[in-house]
Amino acid sequence: MGNDTSGPAANAEPLLPEPATPSSPLDIAALRADTPGCESVIHFNNAGAGLMTRPVLQAMTDHLHLEATTGGYEAADARAAEVAGFHTAVARLLNAAPGTIAFAGSATHAYAKALSAIDFRPGDTVLTTRNDYASNQIAFLSLRRRFGVRVVHAPDHPDGSGVDVAAMAALMRSERPRLVAATHVPTSSGLVQPVAEIGRHCRELDLLYLVDACQSVGQLEVDVEEIGCDLLTATGRKFLRGPRGSGFLYVSERALRAGYEPLFIDLHGARWTAPGEYRPVGTAARFEEWEFSYATLLGCAAAVRYALRVGPAAVARRTPALAARLRERLDGLPGVRLLDGGPAPAALVTLTVAGWQAEPFKAALDARGVNSSLNFREYAQFDFEDKDVAWCLRLSPHYYNTEDEVDEVADTVARLVRGGRA
Ligand SMILES: Cc1ncc(COP(=O)(O)O)c(C=O)c1O
Repeated sequence: MGNDTSGPAANAEPLLPEPATPSSPLDIAALRADTPGCESVIHFNNAGAGLMTRPVLQAMTDHLHLEATTGGYEAADARAAEVAGFHTAVARLLNAAPGTIAFAGSATHAYAKALSAIDFRPGDTVLTTRNDYASNQIAFLSLRRRFGVRVVHAPDHPDGSGVDVAAMAALMRSERPRLVAATHVPTSSGLVQPVAEIGRHCRELDLLYLVDACQSVGQLEVDVEEIGCDLLTATGRKFLRGPRGSGFLYVSERALRAGYEPLFIDLHGARWTAPGEYRPVGTAARFEEWEFSYATLLGCAAAVRYALRVGPAAVARRTPALAARLRERLDGLPGVRLLDGGPAPAALVTLTVAGWQAEPFKAALDARGVNSSLNFREYAQFDFEDKDVAWCLRLSPHYYNTEDEVDEVADTVARLVRGGRA
């Protein structure tokens, strides 16, 4: 097999529906009617897991039914075109070729596979930032422990806009890192890191560049060509509104050509060509595994198609705008401290509340039908140290939430912090 990343997947699925034109307003009532969860909860935990749509549920339950009635392998054969369609849909979302996309069971799994492809030697440097995802940082520390890799953190810009790109570029020149790694939107705040600016320096210096886009895919427009990354990871379950247990890895054609392959490659990712030899396949399928949940992949594919139909540009306009409205309403409430930095934060609204412990505050929101989540110091050691906070509440709306819901959540927080029982 060659390196043709347009793959068989490119022709396997019927044409996707055209995305909504950027100027057309979203039909929120129709989008909510597609979302069973909207009837029962105000879901402001899309950064945890977005509410799945009816088409996602349908794709998964249909496939489970097919497996139960015809057999798991036979069902996979019957849906081969739809399975290949996963790669086509994700590729369109990211502005990539289908053969550069690999399915994964989670963003962390995709990230670990990507790291395993790098032939780290003692003294090699990983250059990263102070606002990175905790599991990524733990993986770098594990590489340090096992292989003697150095982990270097670029400083933040004093204006609070995220990493200081000029300082990071200077470190690229002085350290010649084996890997540059950045998280587009960290889990612990709405900060949007300048991943495309970092990427321009990586391309100029020909450095391997890995981006964690787990919180940005599905709420912001993510274009791998614009970012200039070699590797990019994301999940299906957050702002893409796919099922739990789904994610993906993008591997650039440049990285595929250079021969990057995961350390533990299986008979799906490689051919066992002779007793003492194997050959990786030419596409990013070399990062996949033979066994996976077909129903979950098909649910994730349905979620990506849904996102494309809604229109990534329209989503990227509405979602952060709802979060901005929420911040505006929360700003100035007694005891509330908003924590999100950067000129244009994403839809992760983080705050601390004086006089409350983390769990009781979240439980009070739960009791009032508002889903939220908590972040603690161990999720964001540098960020929370800088902000001098031990925990934060995270409220993460999505495009299918309404302005009325935003106002209701803000009013509920206001009543709680004023000591009332809403
Ligand atoms: C920024 C970021 N990266 C990676 C992950 C990990 O995703 P997964 O749980 O799918 O491995 C998360 C999950 O919250 C995240 O917020």
